[in-house]
Amino acid sequence: MTISRRLFLGGATAATIIAASKINETVFAQKKQINIYSSRHYNTDSELYNTFSRITGIKVNLVEGKDDELIERIKTEGKNSPADILITVDAGRLWRADQAGILSPVNSKILQQQIPSNLRHPKGHWFGFSKRARVIIFNKNKVSKSQLSTYEDLANPKWKGKIITRSSSNIYNQSLVAALISILGEKKAEQWCKSLVANFARPPQGGDTDQIKAVAAGIADLALVNTYYVARLGQSDKKEERDIFSKIGVFFPNQNARGTHVNICGGGVIKTSKNRTEAVKFLEYLAGSTAQSFFAQGNNEYPVVANIKYDPIVASFGNFKSDTINVSVYGQNNSKSVQIMDRAGWK
Ligand SMILES: [Fe+2]
Repeated sequence: MTISRRLFLGGATAATIIAASKINETVFAQKKQINIYSSRHYNTDSELYNTFSRITGIKVNLVEGKDDELIERIKTEGKNSPADILITVDAGRLWRADQAGILSPVNSKILQQQIPSNLRHPKGHWFGFSKRARVIIFNKNKVSKSQLSTYEDLANPKWKGKIITRSSSNIYNQSLVAALISILGEKKAEQWCKSLVANFARPPQGGDTDQIKAVAAGIADLALVNTYYVARLGQSDKKEERDIFSKIGVFFPNQNARGTHVNICGGGVIKTSKNRTEAVKFLEYLAGSTAQSFFAQGNNEYPVVANIKYDPIVASFGNFKSDTINVSVYGQNNSKSVQIMDRAGWK
């Protein structure tokens, strides 16, 4: 009896302590906050942040802005910057932020285990949390999938006057060329750019959605775009946008060898962060299944971790093999790629 009573009391005491410490933790945690500087501006992202706050009790303050402006702002604010985290799109830009000296290395087992090594900075200065594929889209009335193969094949004169893409000032194209420099060498990458430009149906103009609309309208047969722009048209409330979607096919290039060019949306912890523990916790949250589902379902991007369900329209594009080149190469080769595109006459 004594023993069992003791055990019972012991159990109750332990439970009380756990309950009390939980309350303390919550009270304490509610005071904690992080300041995120983000260039992502998708409606679903607020849910992503709210869920983090609900789970951890850490308040998220969001500063939104254009990518390069945010990097400049953090630089200007210097050691007084309230920024804890920078989130931006494209590894080329994350590289730029790192070169500006505003990021600090994060050593997290969770991040290292969850995120494939090619989608993060080799020393943990930034991490990719979603993956975007830059693919060839085609007008289904004019081209069949069997005519398509690789990025390299877009240089073939058979496509003369049939390809469009956005301008060389766009970082997505700069990163694609930066990858090609690493894969083919500078000389061949430049030759590819020249031949591609020779195949353009019109001088580069507009964003990725404009290229998709132009291909659907028959202005060109093919375009280089990120898949989430295609998916967005397929999900549109507007019939005319769904009609555009129905005319477009998605082709993942280079499936027989290295795989399709992918880029990331990612982030890192700011060197001067005053809430470093919470900031790392947030990055770890982004690599977890809850946040990964938001990326996959919310903005039609690809998750970086396995076994996350795709949005149905994204799933309809099919599975594909991604190039496993380390995305930090896009940053390393960025200035070379800009020069090459310029010499090739890519406006
Ligand atoms: Fe985009």
